Amino acid sequence: MRKIGVLFGGKSGEHEVSLLSATSVIEALDREKYDVVMIGITKSGQWKLYEGDVHNLADGSWEKTAADIEVSDLKKLADFALPVLHGPYGEDGTIQGLFEMLDVPYAGCGVLSSALCMDKVSAKKIFERMGLPTARYKLVYAEDVKDDLESVVKEVEAELPYTLFVKPSNMGSSVGISKVRNTEELRAALALAGKYDRRIIIEEGINCREVETGVIGNHKPEVAAVGEIVAKLDFYDYTAKYTDDAGTELSIPAKLPASTYEEIRTLAKKAYMALDCSGFARIDFFVDKDTGQVYINEINTIPGFTKYSMFPLMWKEAGVSFRELVERIVDLGYERYYAKNNR
Ligand SMILES: Nc1ncnc2c1ncn2[C@@H]1O[C@H](COP(=O)(O)OP(=O)(O)O)[C@@H](O)[C@H]1O
Ligand SMILES: [Mg+2]
Repeated sequence: MRKIGVLFGGKSGEHEVSLLSATSVIEALDREKYDVVMIGITKSGQWKLYEGDVHNLADGSWEKTAADIEVSDLKKLADFALPVLHGPYGEDGTIQGLFEMLDVPYAGCGVLSSALCMDKVSAKKIFERMGLPTARYKLVYAEDVKDDLESVVKEVEAELPYTLFVKPSNMGSSVGISKVRNTEELRAALALAGKYDRRIIIEEGINCREVETGVIGNHKPEVAAVGEIVAKLDFYDYTAKYTDDAGTELSIPAKLPASTYEEIRTLAKKAYMALDCSGFARIDFFVDKDTGQVYINEINTIPGFTKYSMFPLMWKEAGVSFRELVERIVDLGYERYYAKNNR
């Protein structure tokens, strides 16, 4: 039987979300087909083997009974790595590089693709180059913000009109992101974003609906239904994303004109290929409320994966159950591994 190592927790700010996603994924894995090996990573980065009840993941109590292991033990413990980690050190190519070094087949995007999707500036440069629609932006550096804030502010204001979104290029889960409407807010937002990354991206704000779709596959990706996040808050921030009563509703399938709906699905596949994704990913879009124009916002290579998350729900709408989705993702990981190693 295949020993599937599910990795959860992690050093990122999305540690808790990962615990929730992993609980659903572990519960879905068919024990007749797989041995499930639970490998937790604490917030400080210690790897642990956990052999208790899966229901102790969510509240963090799994850590008490889990045994410390070395990173390299992964190869002995599991045949396959299924990282259910969100954000830095889980979704950004670093742990994928470790799997490559250990020669362990794994689920999802590879090193390059994970790193590109995590870095907003790099992803946008490629989208632009491939002719894929994405909101206008400007890149500035935290060092320049520190040295001469007023010059940076002037440059930004000369290029882009308010409302703007200011983001660290490389973060995720809305950490360090601000919506700004004037000079004063721009100054504060630049200082905040600069705390998280050297590269800061400033984007034109789109008065938009937020829609997403899921893609799975390697060479021939398939696209799920399109879903919409109907937010009642100012923007889809960290709290809105991950708390139950968050003032957001998911609408699947998204109520869009048929042509827009299909345009999104086509663009999702192109974006997935453009950033060399494999396995699975969730592609996020903005649809301009006034013009109907579609923009690609970003690709999440390990999207939220609880039973209530958009990614599995969009697949459910497309006729793929949660369990089948997880199994296909495992199979795709093996497929890519063998394809790469049998050239
Ligand atoms: N250019 C934009 N126009 C309108 N809303 C935006 C824009 N950029 C970000 N947002 C809002 O901020 C949220 C978080 O931004 P996003 O780029 O998706 O970062 P993260 O990687 O943290 O998810 C989006 O879901 C959206 O609500
Ligand atoms: Mg996002």
